Amino acid sequence: MKGIILAGGSGTRLYPLTLGTSKQLLPVYNKPLIYYPLTTLMLAGIRDILIITTPEDQAAFQRLLKDGSQWGINLSYAVQPEPGGTVQAILIGETFIDHAPVSLILGDNIFYGEGIPSILKDSSRLTSGGLILAYYVQHPERYGVVSFDAEERVIHIEEKPAQPRSNWAMTGLFFYAGDVVEVAKEVRPSPRGELEITDVNKHYMRQGALKLRLLGRGNAWFDTGTHESLLEAANYVAAVERRQGLMIACPEEIAYALGYIDSDHLERLTASYLKNNYGNYLQRLRTPGRR
Ligand code: DAU
Repeated sequence: MKGIILAGGSGTRLYPLTLGTSKQLLPVYNKPLIYYPLTTLMLAGIRDILIITTPEDQAAFQRLLKDGSQWGINLSYAVQPEPGGTVQAILIGETFIDHAPVSLILGDNIFYGEGIPSILKDSSRLTSGGLILAYYVQHPERYGVVSFDAEERVIHIEEKPAQPRSNWAMTGLFFYAGDVVEVAKEVRPSPRGELEITDVNKHYMRQGALKLRLLGRGNAWFDTGTHESLLEAANYVAAVERRQGLMIACPEEIAYALGYIDSDHLERLTASYLKNNYGNYLQRLRTPGRR
């Protein structure tokens, strides 16, 4: 399976933070926001990843993430000229997708929890239709909202409804079979003028081909579109990392754990961090029997 990270958008809700830089380059505690969706795709076993950015921010993402070979993955880049909606990720990625199954993750989504890696690995085996993940939230009206029957079959999805039919928000992580480009081409702009990923998911729902995975309460899901939610995510990451001395969304650690890079390679990466906390953490990863 291939992966796409949608990391464009105007980030207006985060002004003035995003006047000078991209939202997905902002810090979430000790890492740039994009590390979180990137490592989510890595944990799904996805190694070919397209990063879609605004034209003006592309160079900064390339400076940060390079071609991915430092972490044993392949990163390529494309631009979204205007933020015309999440479906554009699929359309811009058509050549990259090349009829293969693909996972799309919105660049401001953070997933964390014991069950997540196995859900990601299972989901990446999808060969037909689509698969969405849903998370129980207090304010569903801010999201795409999913309703389902007793067998957890999706019966209704609605983008930011005034009267939500459930508390289950559609997260910004999607898995699709290779026909998704054809589905995306049929989507028309919504009342807010955007090509909505919700309409792609509704298409699969109508075909009876939309799978649903519910993320239980032992998991954390954040989107980081506002000042408050960005701070909440950072505080969460800081609390867990400081309590355990283990990092969330460290690409070097994940690449090493998955066998994409060896100990010598990790040592070279570590050297570039000199003696800060991040470098010390990478140094400890190489200590035999540490975990
Ligand atoms: O985070 C989950 C939610 O994401 C879902 O529950 C909704 O169904 C889905 O529509 C989406 O809603 P948002 O209103 O949060 O999407 P937003 O427009 O904020 O875009 C999400 C990310 O995608 C954000 O990091 C910016 C990026 N983006 C967005 C658009 C519309 C782009 O790069 N280009 C775009 O054209």
